Amino acid sequence: MSTLTQIRDMPASGLTQKQSASDSAEPDNLRYTKIPLNNGSGAIPALGFGTLIPDPIATRIATKAALEAGFRQLDASERYRNEKEVGEAIQDVFKAGKINREEVCIATKVWNNNHRPERVKPAFEASLKRLQIDYADLYLIHTPFAFQPGDEQDPRDASGNVIYDKGVTLLDTWGALERLVDKGRCKAIGLSDVSLAQTQEIFEAARIKPAVVHVESHPYLPQWDLLDYCTKNGIVLQAFAALGHSSEPNLLKDPVITAIAKRVNKTPAQVLLAWAIQRGTALLTTSKTPSRIKENFEVSALPEEAVQEISEGVKLRVRFNAVVETGVPGFIPRGK
Ligand SMILES: NC(=O)c1ccc[n+]([C@@H]2O[C@H](COP(=O)([O-])OP(=O)(O)OC[C@H]3O[C@@H](n4cnc5c(N)ncnc54)[C@H](OP(=O)(O)O)[C@@H]3O)[C@@H](O)[C@H]2O)c1
Repeated sequence: MSTLTQIRDMPASGLTQKQSASDSAEPDNLRYTKIPLNNGSGAIPALGFGTLIPDPIATRIATKAALEAGFRQLDASERYRNEKEVGEAIQDVFKAGKINREEVCIATKVWNNNHRPERVKPAFEASLKRLQIDYADLYLIHTPFAFQPGDEQDPRDASGNVIYDKGVTLLDTWGALERLVDKGRCKAIGLSDVSLAQTQEIFEAARIKPAVVHVESHPYLPQWDLLDYCTKNGIVLQAFAALGHSSEPNLLKDPVITAIAKRVNKTPAQVLLAWAIQRGTALLTTSKTPSRIKENFEVSALPEEAVQEISEGVKLRVRFNAVVETGVPGFIPRGK
């Protein structure tokens, strides 16, 4: 099982991984962990900020707060319909002169209505324009489901059923992403909301291998098999909903997590984020609340036994987001 030993890159600090783990009350460098990407385009910060925030003003404020708090990986998507506000926030911070473009790893994703290869480049260029950047660090296929090509993101028939596109395969779309890398438009490419079988299929056929596989993952959905495959093949598994998306059952109130938080004097969110990094994944978390954004960046290493306790002691299994079943995004509402 993956543990601290799988942290693949940490900045020079004089602290070893063992020192970090045993020194749990002290700040360490876990928050600055970077994981190398397999195609020679650098490394991705393990601690990432997601921009799935419905309100545009909140998006701009939160994205700016995330960069100011220290996050250096941002996850966007054309589907979130707020790349413009993410771009404005990035520019606000760049113009203030504290951070430059090269320091931030910016990812975005192509949505299901743009899977036809001829639609990928225009969709990509439109994303870059909205984000006000001239290259992407990472471009992902948002889901493996192709919808009817066109400008409608959610095409439906008269009965309300999604209209899928059977005329394009995931590999066809992947080829179009490879050509963006060839042209130097993005540094790395990856998949999202895929199964292990779909990851294997693309990995085996691809000329440029997926650098990142972005899926829901947290202690209730640890995806150990997929993590194992990714680790063996040099792919970064990036875990979204790392805090359980404020959904029920509430991961932040899980007794294993809250007991560890109390013991190591951290918040439940910090325990979950540290666990994700220490078991060898990158992660995405999101908040509209500046104090939580700061809290979420201020992670430090858990003792090794706490990492093990979460990996082995949390038995509940819950998938919060049903997007993997149909390609239609959405967290599943559950009663409290
Ligand atoms: N590929 C996909 O299909 C897909 C699907 C879902 C998400 N994603 C990506 O993954 C990112 C993260 O997903 P997520 O939004 O589910 O992340 P998450 O961090 O698990 O959940 C976010 C929720 O947790 C709350 N929260 C954040 N920090 C907290 C803290 N310290 N204490 C208590 N509550 C806290 C937030 O509340 P407040 O905002 O009210 O503070 C928000 O309601 C998204 O933004 C998106 O980029 C991708």
